[in-house]
Amino acid sequence: MASDERFVFIVEWYDAAASLIRTYNLAYYPKDKTIEMVDLKTKKLFLKRCEYPSIQLNDLYIGAIATVHSRQLKIVDYADLFTRKHFESSKEKTFAMIKPDCYQHIGKIIDIIEHSGFVIGNIRMAKMSLANAEEFYAEHKGKPFFTNLTNFICSDFVVGMELVGEEAIARWRKLIGPTNCEVARKEAPNSIRAIFGTEGVKNACHGSDSPGSASREIEFFFGEKTKLKPTAFLTNCTSCVIKPHIVMEANVGKIVDKILSEGFEIS
Ligand code: RTP
Ligand code: MG
Repeated sequence: MASDERFVFIVEWYDAAASLIRTYNLAYYPKDKTIEMVDLKTKKLFLKRCEYPSIQLNDLYIGAIATVHSRQLKIVDYADLFTRKHFESSKEKTFAMIKPDCYQHIGKIIDIIEHSGFVIGNIRMAKMSLANAEEFYAEHKGKPFFTNLTNFICSDFVVGMELVGEEAIARWRKLIGPTNCEVARKEAPNSIRAIFGTEGVKNACHGSDSPGSASREIEFFFGEKTKLKPTAFLTNCTSCVIKPHIVMEANVGKIVDKILSEGFEIS
């Protein structure tokens, strides 16, 4: 390991006295376990490279809080490609989808995701056409439940998400539980399908079953060539912006749930 090899993160610190968020680069040098901070606005050195034993490599990941000289620093992003590549190689991506039967529970399901060690890398609502649904579930073409499944998937809004985390594919499938909701209620009573699923194809959520499916499904939803159309009504609407600290504090699901439980629709 080169002595100057370092991992650099963008961190934010809420300066209560000035009522503003200050942004820094926090560098960690694994060779001698030292850290260094640079103020991103002034580009000036903020903390000279020094040993800081309470911060270890394992503590550094997006979403984590690193405390340096009693300042709570929220790690919000990687500051360079080297760091991103190093950390993202240990992470996996999966595609999760909230199905039409769970529109009212979108907030509650996002809340579970936020508290289960996933980062939501991307999220969008969609209203699939029958052709979209048939393409998305093409692997099941010809099976007895195919027509029922595709008609259901295009019957109303779905929410697609790219979830990032360690063993994301297997962990998300475990979290949603067995395909059949009755089986889920018996064998995995705390799973999402057990709690929010109804019966048959109305089983609350989808999860990719392999890295290949995850890539294909993420591309289907979020790729440049996606065939999915925007869902925003743009009339009789207002716009709600959820601010970054809410995302960092994993409270997006609670806000979405509040919006839906107050009787608003999200388009
Ligand atoms: P998903 O793809 O939606 O995450 O579900 P899964 O992997 O757990 O199950 P899969 O075999 O991929 O089936 C896709 C969806 O088709 C419906 N299904 N019905 N025997 C049946 O009646 C049956 N089998 C599958 C379910 O809605 C399932 O989610
Ligand atoms: Mg499947």
